[in-house]
Amino acid sequence: MAQQMDSPTREALVARVRFYRDLGMTEFYRRVVDPALLARLESEPEPAAERSDLTSVSVLSQEESAIPPRKSIPAAPEIAAIVPKAERAAALQVIRDEIGDCKRCALHKGRNKLVFGDGDPAARLMFVGEGPGADEDAQGLPFVGRAGQLLNNMIAAMGLKREEVYIANIVKCRPPGNRVPEQEEGATCSPFLFRQIDVVRPKVLVALGATAATWLLGSRQPLAGLRGRVHAVRGAQLIVTYHPAYLLRDPRQKKEAWADLQIAMKELGLTPQGKG
Ligand code: URA
Repeated sequence: MAQQMDSPTREALVARVRFYRDLGMTEFYRRVVDPALLARLESEPEPAAERSDLTSVSVLSQEESAIPPRKSIPAAPEIAAIVPKAERAAALQVIRDEIGDCKRCALHKGRNKLVFGDGDPAARLMFVGEGPGADEDAQGLPFVGRAGQLLNNMIAAMGLKREEVYIANIVKCRPPGNRVPEQEEGATCSPFLFRQIDVVRPKVLVALGATAATWLLGSRQPLAGLRGRVHAVRGAQLIVTYHPAYLLRDPRQKKEAWADLQIAMKELGLTPQGKG
């Protein structure tokens, strides 16, 4: 009898198995997945990504090219004192309350819901994306659309549950048409993210895509030069990888993303699924 993987729906399970297949983890999913599901997977074509899933122009165009220098990235605030684990949820709520019904930048004009962040307030692993898309704007939660489903699969492949990590974005309101956040928008919003990072105190931060990497590192560099090594940011080890929306567009890069996540796993002392 095949061992069941934790998954709410068969659709999500099929997507997860596809992801493992794309990573080359064939042996693993063949051992744990119901054979009937595998038969279905092999008989059905993968649904094409829709434009609305593909988040932003930056995700699509800048992943592998140099990011042109524009306005400067302001220096990040000083790292705050460590908050005891038991007080981190409350400390995050203080930041959320301070943000309030934010009108600090123009992004508030098109907002339905502000997307603060989600997950374990004392997570050892934190993911940072670019900014909410349509689904996130509707629900007020980060990464809940198709890119989010892929991120969930990436988290599961690392042997973690989504609720065990913390997820946030560079900007908390959806940029119109999912465009790249402007310098002023990132500069206004990112200090709140930095405060969230200081409260959560993750051991490992994963920057999803060029925009997250730029704002976390405080400099614009091509993603290719940032991947494959560990950077130091706010007391955490930062790993840079592709944005899940980019991986939806170009699934061939999933193996590369998996290699990046394995660096993160090594830092966290995690064993890849299906091994050990
Ligand atoms: N893309 C992002 O960068 N963040 C989200 O929350 C969703 C999609």
